Amino acid sequence: MLKQLEELQLEALNELGQVSELKGLESWRVRCLGKRSKLTQVLRSLASLPLEERKKIGALANGTKVSLESSLAEKKKFLEEDHLASFLSRERLDITLPGQPIPAGRLHPVTQTLEEICSIFTSMGFQVAEGPDVEWDYYNFEALNIPPQHPARDMFATLWIDYEETTGQARLLRTHTSPMQIRVMEKERPPIRMIVPGRVYRYEATDATHESMFYQVEGLAIDMNITLADLKGILFEFCHCLFGEERKVRFRCDYFPFVEPGAEIAIECSSCHGAGCRLCSYSGWLEILGAGMVHPDVLRRVDIDPEVYSGFAFGMGVERIPMLRYGIDDIRLFYSNDLRFLKQF
Ligand code: DAH
Repeated sequence: MLKQLEELQLEALNELGQVSELKGLESWRVRCLGKRSKLTQVLRSLASLPLEERKKIGALANGTKVSLESSLAEKKKFLEEDHLASFLSRERLDITLPGQPIPAGRLHPVTQTLEEICSIFTSMGFQVAEGPDVEWDYYNFEALNIPPQHPARDMFATLWIDYEETTGQARLLRTHTSPMQIRVMEKERPPIRMIVPGRVYRYEATDATHESMFYQVEGLAIDMNITLADLKGILFEFCHCLFGEERKVRFRCDYFPFVEPGAEIAIECSSCHGAGCRLCSYSGWLEILGAGMVHPDVLRRVDIDPEVYSGFAFGMGVERIPMLRYGIDDIRLFYSNDLRFLKQF
């Protein structure tokens, strides 16, 4: 029986040694220490032994049981630690590894241009304001000296929305940012120096140089003693900031109903440097903005006395600028969401 106990212990320890996962421990316990195990059988059979032998073998058998139980506890502890260690090594974070690159994205070329234009004017003391895309006929036309039958309405292919029954006022998508001149002057008293970037809309077929939605930046300065020289100085400075000191700038008369006198500013063609080419329709010049001294009637309409105050206004298209700079020959590229195009800027 002694030998049997020894063998049984050896065998059990051997099997325990082969258990490599926590899950295996319970079945080992049932097999080696459970009710039907060889060890339990030995312990049960003690009763039939003579007293002396019972004592001796009993003590040994109990010793075997205790030692196997403590081996089990030890193994359990070992496997638990092992489990934790391997879990930790799997979960470990190596903070010295280079990070996953996060695609940073970029600003749309038109947004970049808007930011650049705004920063040139804010550096000259202008504030930035924004206004509604859906506008009333009054602000888009009437208050700007363009009454219902005025031929200047033909300059703007307008997208009409509806009209309000009670007032008879028509609602439209603004065709230019100029209505914000009126909105600003209704709220603020001079001195005013304001620029307004924003979207405008025209009912036009799209082609390489026309879109039904595009961006403009409007400018307005109202104060005492503002003259045409201020208008010219500010806009020449702006053109030189944006296109470089050497670029020639042309300043000529033009007509817009809400300014008097009206002007148009053009820069020397970036492609042929004034010689004449397809880009500038063989004129050597590229028009970039309209401007003028705010018409006295416009000032009167917003209760600003034209005898005391004067001012200038200007408005420019935005897409034209990156098109000239980067040689983009189709305005539709800006709004067709092609990443291959957009990622170049
Ligand atoms: N709003 C005009 C347009 O879209 C541009 C313009 C011309 C704006 C003269 C002005 C200005 O403020 O004074 O064609």
